Amino acid sequence: MSAILVSGGNALHGTVRVSGAKNSALKLMAASLLAPGTSVIHNVPDISDVALMADVLERLGARVKRDGHTLSVDAGEITSLEAPYDLVAQMRASIVVLGPLVARFGQARVALPGGCNIGSRKIDMHVRGLECLGVEVNLEHGFIEATAPAGLSGADVILDFPSVGATENLLMAAVLAKGTTTIENAAREPEIGDLVDMLVEMGAHIAGRGSSTLEITGVPELSPAEHTTVGDRIEAGTFLVAGAITGGEITVTGFAPAHLEMVLTKMSLAGCEFDLADDGATVRRTGPVRPVDVATLPFPGFPTDMQAQFMALMSIAEGGCLITENVFENRFMFADELKRMGADIDIEGHRAFVRGVPRLEGAPVRSPDLRGGAALVLAGLAAEGETLVTEVHHIMRGYEDFAGRLGALGADVRVLDD
Ligand code: EPZ
Repeated sequence: MSAILVSGGNALHGTVRVSGAKNSALKLMAASLLAPGTSVIHNVPDISDVALMADVLERLGARVKRDGHTLSVDAGEITSLEAPYDLVAQMRASIVVLGPLVARFGQARVALPGGCNIGSRKIDMHVRGLECLGVEVNLEHGFIEATAPAGLSGADVILDFPSVGATENLLMAAVLAKGTTTIENAAREPEIGDLVDMLVEMGAHIAGRGSSTLEITGVPELSPAEHTTVGDRIEAGTFLVAGAITGGEITVTGFAPAHLEMVLTKMSLAGCEFDLADDGATVRRTGPVRPVDVATLPFPGFPTDMQAQFMALMSIAEGGCLITENVFENRFMFADELKRMGADIDIEGHRAFVRGVPRLEGAPVRSPDLRGGAALVLAGLAAEGETLVTEVHHIMRGYEDFAGRLGALGADVRVLDD
């Protein structure tokens, strides 16, 4: 599949249920490595990143079976401790196998993940944190060589920045370390809470769930668990923007509105009305889109993964606003494509000034990355005429049947195969 053709102008109506969170499921799969036996994970999205993580686990010797949205991971027979470059290069998130492997086996060799098109994606906090726990880490020949001959020992770790990946790797290392570990300035994203829940179900002792200080008391061994992945708040936010940008009314279920509070607040200020429920929200927009400034920050701040989608909405606002990207150093490439659709945006460093225009124009555009690609489709829904979005493999990494679900809400979208 290489392109999505959108004909703009339809207001979306109806109900859509989001999948389990990509940014949790991938880590829950890695957590399965911590225990001999078979863990079962429900509500796993059927997306290419999950298939890639399954390949990584199988390369390590685990057996992964998918039955619909349920995945079982048998980590009883781990035969390799190396996550190879050909797989890690395709998906940076593979690096979260480092913590579990070194915790359970005292050794791991993970290819250094390349940067990607939204930034350098450094791993210094992962490395420094593991070294605090007694891991010897060498970066050589494009690999992270981690060994802990004497096992891992609990320690106090303070993160320079609440990195999601570093928090997850350190969590999964500390659960089997001797003694107690504290992680201060830990990330607080809901996906971290979901990982903590599964680790506790496996027998880990973790205090401070949802706070920026996690305290882990190591245990000698963990057991497999059965866990249901938290709903995908970013997928939910993407569909809510689809309803708002087209001036329709849609209900998104399968996620907790509390996990998207800042986004809902900013969309309300932009002229959207919401009805909230425990597992979802209905959005409608009857008046004009109003301009609202946004700065991306770690949770509970405005999520960087919703920056492009929100910028698409702001591109048709009545007035100008400032969008500041504080988490990644190069996450405005999407804006260059949006300008091809008539958006009026000036970018200086990590700030984008967006002047709303009355209408976007359909145009051929290219997905620069996962969220930028999804946001270009959203822009196409509101544009005059046809928008051909290419390189949509980026979108398939994180959205299950994106075009089909939008079509079910009344969007005129077609998938064009190679
Ligand atoms: C996770 O990436 C998500 N990916 C990202 O979602 C998300 O944007 C990000 O968290 C922030 O919420 C997955 O969960 C698979 P970070 P991660 O470590 O863990 C710098 C999507 O669209 N940093 O919090 O890589 C880093 O360079 C993706 O679904 C260091 O400098 O994010 C970045 O600028 C995109 N040193 C910032 O911190 C480190 O050791 C945030 O990175 C680690 C990170």
